Amino acid sequence: MSDQAHGPEAGGAPTEEQHEDNKIHVERWEAIWLRLAMIMVVVFILGVVISATAFGISVPGVTGRINPATIDDPSSPFSKPGLRELAPGKYEAYIVAQTWNFVPDKLEVPQGSEVTFYLTARDVTHGFKLVGTNINMMALPGQVSSLKATFNKPGTYDYLCHEYCGYVAGAPIGHQTMYGQLTVTPALTTTAVTQ
Ligand code: CUA
Repeated sequence: MSDQAHGPEAGGAPTEEQHEDNKIHVERWEAIWLRLAMIMVVVFILGVVISATAFGISVPGVTGRINPATIDDPSSPFSKPGLRELAPGKYEAYIVAQTWNFVPDKLEVPQGSEVTFYLTARDVTHGFKLVGTNINMMALPGQVSSLKATFNKPGTYDYLCHEYCGYVAGAPIGHQTMYGQLTVTPALTTTAVTQ
């Protein structure tokens, strides 16, 4: 018995499927997997849309450009890095990443504060990860990155550089020393406030 069942000369009448307007025949399991893959794509897209809208998860964007040489100019918002209180419980934090520290390396806000972080790098590419939050950014020379977070839990939050950063000839490499700490102080309850 021959295994050569291909081609017209192999004999046998064309099957029904071959006649049906040249429809592609898809195996049952293949069709199931195709549908499953399509459902998964829809679920993933919904996941991204829901996390971006309902949970406020976002990726850091370029909020601005800055010439690294003018960071210290009085007109630059980074010339006096640190916290600025815009309104009660609303802050902006300007942070400069440089070889090898963050300026400032200490921040303190009361519980419940909303902080918008603005970050740039003075020299080489650094990173900024605020442990326990959604804040995770690159610090790039020439670029200002920004992300916002609300701190409802008192405690300390370390921030650290997660980009293996620059080498200056003759100096020890200090990437591992590049960190800071944000302290969230417990909010005073109304009964604890005295006149
Ligand atoms: Cu800065 Cu690693």
